[in-house]
Amino acid sequence: MSNPAALTSIEDVSPRLEDLVDRDALGELLGSVFSLFGIPIRLYGQDGRLLAAAAEVGELYALLGEHRRVGARVEQIVSEVKHLEPGPGGSARRECVTGAVYRVVRLEYDGRAMGRLIFGPYALPEAMEPSDRLFELAPDLDRARCTELFQRLPRLSDERVLALARHLSLTFELVLFSEHRALLTSNMHLASVRESFRELEEKTRKLEEANARLTELDRLKSNFLATVSHELRTPLTSIIGYSEMLVEGLAGDLTDEQREFLSTIREKGDQLLALIKGLLDLSKLESKMTNLEREYVAADSIVEDVLATVQPHARKKQVSVTRHTQAGLPRMYADPERLRQVLLNLVDNAVKFTGPGGCVSIDVRLASMDPEKLSGSQGVVLLGSRRAAIEFRVADDGIGIPEHERDKVFDAFYQVDSSSTREQGGTGLGLSIVKRLVEAHGGSVTIEDNVPRGTVFVVTLPLRFSSLG
Ligand SMILES: Nc1ncnc2c1ncn2[C@@H]1O[C@H](COP(=O)(O)OP(=O)(O)O)[C@@H](O)[C@H]1O
Ligand SMILES: [Mg+2]
Repeated sequence: MSNPAALTSIEDVSPRLEDLVDRDALGELLGSVFSLFGIPIRLYGQDGRLLAAAAEVGELYALLGEHRRVGARVEQIVSEVKHLEPGPGGSARRECVTGAVYRVVRLEYDGRAMGRLIFGPYALPEAMEPSDRLFELAPDLDRARCTELFQRLPRLSDERVLALARHLSLTFELVLFSEHRALLTSNMHLASVRESFRELEEKTRKLEEANARLTELDRLKSNFLATVSHELRTPLTSIIGYSEMLVEGLAGDLTDEQREFLSTIREKGDQLLALIKGLLDLSKLESKMTNLEREYVAADSIVEDVLATVQPHARKKQVSVTRHTQAGLPRMYADPERLRQVLLNLVDNAVKFTGPGGCVSIDVRLASMDPEKLSGSQGVVLLGSRRAAIEFRVADDGIGIPEHERDKVFDAFYQVDSSSTREQGGTGLGLSIVKRLVEAHGGSVTIEDNVPRGTVFVVTLPLRFSSLG
């Protein structure tokens, strides 16, 4: 518990007798004493309310109750007894008009008054007959009958009653102690739950704040990337352009060595440009600044275009690239340049991660969108309909991607083998761009195993992008 204030407030709790002990249990306790000693007992709380009683109206008092004057007097005494405050010794005695007595004993717990026990009426052992005051008040009473009934009153010495009171007080103290402890424990438990809840709320609030800050930082990062990439691209284009011109001899003849150096400059420049383009693309996609320029396109012609682009490099690597397109495919509504970029990235990877003699294939066919995989088209998901789609499968028999890496390869800059001894180049941006572009089209991209080896990237794009999505 980290909050001491909470603890103090629990210790401050001053429970009342009736809060700690069940009334029925109090009644039972008093009942057992009554049945053992025959002495009537009543228990009053600190506020003067009767909490439990074990008493019977004795025959004497029943008789006196019928007598107008005596009845009124007895009633008056009983009410005085009820309000009698025990003195410094913790107990007080009040004699009744009959000569019987009442004893009031204070109940304490932990130095605090909790209530009062009232014993009586009972007769002292030496008193053999009612007090003369009774007959002075009511001379018409039957003296012999009254004496007979008086002798049937419970008969106990003051010491006996006080011992009994002590015994009861001790019992109460014990019960109160254990009940109080239980109450304290449960209060502490409550307080600690409350405290944990408060801490949790505090943490949630901090997390929300941190989250908001991170979102803002992420936005700033995207903006920064976009600006920097843009600023880098312009001078880099000049570098590439001028080195090209030099290689072509526009500035005079070159030695072989100079030409070789320039080629390297140009090659590295191209690589850098590719990286910058990737960053720019990604940051635009992240900040949702990319607008798709959709039109009705033939998937087939785009695949053909991609094939033509990678073919020279693939041939050099001795990787065969084939394509198979289902006949009669309808045109799809997509951004042709973006679609080309998606397929080029996938085919480029396939060639890159496949050794000499390997095969890469591109299959295009009509399929349907799995409603659960439709991104950003909640309306359609609710309808649960399946929409017509075009499926592109880019398969290779290269090194493959282990199952546990398949989610991660779509993260920006993630490369399965990122060691410095890695043979293939690249930036790790390709797939994250692919995924974002595919999702911008309302489609999905997944990875499957190729048999017996290699990888299949499956891109599913809806034939028509509904404005519902
Ligand atoms: N066809 C594939 N076969 C095996 N691994 C692949 C394939 N395509 C992608 N990968 C893995 O996913 C990583 C991320 O791919 P990508 O985002 O295109 O980055 P890059 O190609 O620049 O490394 C690659 O570095 C590679 O580890
Ligand atoms: Mg790549």
